[in-house]
Amino acid sequence: MKTTPLQLALLLALLLPAALPAADLPKPDHEESALDDAMSSMNSAFRKLRRQVADPQQNPASLALVAKLRKACVEATLALPTKIARMPTKDQAAAKAAYTEKMQELIATVDELAAALKANKNPEAAAIIKELSLQEEAGHKQFRTKKKDD
Ligand code: HEM
Repeated sequence: MKTTPLQLALLLALLLPAALPAADLPKPDHEESALDDAMSSMNSAFRKLRRQVADPQQNPASLALVAKLRKACVEATLALPTKIARMPTKDQAAAKAAYTEKMQELIATVDELAAALKANKNPEAAAIIKELSLQEEAGHKQFRTKKKDD
């Protein structure tokens, strides 16, 4: 089959963006940070956990997700929120200490979740998930930049 000029143009339009060097691509309005990566991993484990936490049959799988969530929490603790990086240097140490403390509280709650699941205490585990959501909400309120400044 012969390729028509139109087909050729379509093919080029599809291939061209991939061929452009990264520097020529439009810049996203939000730079991905190490913290974004860690938070995204936390999010995917947490969303699955929310769906299955009440089901005792899923406890072994849930515990594997808790391990993933915990690992990502530790990575997130070591990363610096953009909001703190943009603060005047003199304010950063106190903000970092407050952030670390909140993340350590989160990790302690994740450990409670693991203990409840190991003991097959699913209603307790479901209550701990709610506590984690509250900690997430409070952490985001305190430490995330507003979307428009990102
Ligand atoms: C289970 C709990 C949590 C989940 C599932 C979660 C999830 C997320 C998600 C999905 C994002 C957006 C990532 C992106 O834009 O790619 C994010 C960002 C962020 N989260 Fe969380 N989060 C949790 C708890 C917390 C806590 C407790 C804190 C603070 C103590 C926190 C601080 C932040 C910050 C500062 C950002 C913005 C990233 C940056 O500044 O570079 N998160 N989180």
